[in-house]
Amino acid sequence: MLDPGRIMERCEALARHSELPGGLTRVFLSPEQRAATDKVLAWMREAGMQAKLDAMGNAAGRYEGNRPGLPCLMLGSHLDTVRDAGKYDGMLGVISAIECVSFLHSKNKRLPFAIEVIGFGDEEGVRFGTTLLGSRAVAGIFDGQVLKAKDPQGKTMADALREFGLEPDGIPRLARKKGEVLAYAELHIEQGPVLETEGLPVGVVTAINGFSRLRVTLRGAAGHAGTVPMKLRRDALAATAECVLTVERIARGHPELVGTVGRLEAKPGAINVIPGEVMFTVDVRAPQDALRNDAVSKMTSEIRRIAQDRQLDCNTETLQEFGVTACAPRLMEQMDRAVASEGFKVRRLPSGAGHDGMALGAIADICMLFVRCKGGISHSPLESITQDDAAAGVRVLMSFIERFDGLSA
Ligand code: GLV
Ligand code: MN
Ligand code: MN
Repeated sequence: MLDPGRIMERCEALARHSELPGGLTRVFLSPEQRAATDKVLAWMREAGMQAKLDAMGNAAGRYEGNRPGLPCLMLGSHLDTVRDAGKYDGMLGVISAIECVSFLHSKNKRLPFAIEVIGFGDEEGVRFGTTLLGSRAVAGIFDGQVLKAKDPQGKTMADALREFGLEPDGIPRLARKKGEVLAYAELHIEQGPVLETEGLPVGVVTAINGFSRLRVTLRGAAGHAGTVPMKLRRDALAATAECVLTVERIARGHPELVGTVGRLEAKPGAINVIPGEVMFTVDVRAPQDALRNDAVSKMTSEIRRIAQDRQLDCNTETLQEFGVTACAPRLMEQMDRAVASEGFKVRRLPSGAGHDGMALGAIADICMLFVRCKGGISHSPLESITQDDAAAGVRVLMSFIERFDGLSA
């Protein structure tokens, strides 16, 4: 039997591996992540899979089909978290997928394709500022330059991998070829309010919105907060305030566009010193690439104009960009049928959040199933789901797997 109680217990068990006392923060290649990953690998083995930690720190499990070596249906999500996170973003998808394999294994059932479940080591990008690291490696779109990226303590990703016992040279070998992966399917909490508003436990995702992430540095002049007259100042933080409102104004200009300044560091950061330098980030997302690109170019030119008017140096860097990833129509139809077969209304919706499927889209058709979360809240310790909804999600995922017809693609 599929056991939603066990799914909930396992989400709780993983949440105990945290660097944040009383909360949940688990970043890529941390000791907490090692412990959580070991647990996931053990659950995979218990579910009848061959499982190993791969060169990118992903927990990778495989359940053979009715003969060894068949192409796979890949399932998964991520095991890292944002800071002060909820217990379900990422983990629910990995644990639900393992539950489905465990169910097949208990019935001694093999399918005409293999199933692989991957708990990706990094999706959120918290530690090194660049996202989807685990799934990019598996999709063969991992940029080796990123190994030089440093965490806030100055450690490079390559060194962090080595300290974790992994060999960065092994990363290119993780790349899966087209044809080895028939499709990628991910169960994930919705992270928004649509399903709850409509009283539905699950939804079928149509596409994952694209994103652009920028880092802006403004440099003016630090000075004494008591002596420099206002009109002679080159205050980088006052300029940043204008920039933040500009990002908000441009993003508000279209109902499908969102823009966020999520990080801001002002130097030197003293009460009696004019801020001479500020770094801030901009995250822009939209369901159409043209809309996002247009917004990013308007934001960038407005930020430059603000800097110029205030006689500041301005540097803008694009940290990451990812286009819209559409879910495959044939997989959405199969997921719709799985939803209906479990007695739920079929509701399709786009994803505003990013997901590992964006990377996997480079080598396979993808689809996603959303599970309702309370208040639409995510990236927060208030993130929560009910056991009934976990049950609905895993039943639909199981039904999708059983009717998966990727072989006729
Ligand atoms: C990942 O959760 C993202 O969408 O930022
Ligand atoms: Mn997330
Ligand atoms: Mn997620």
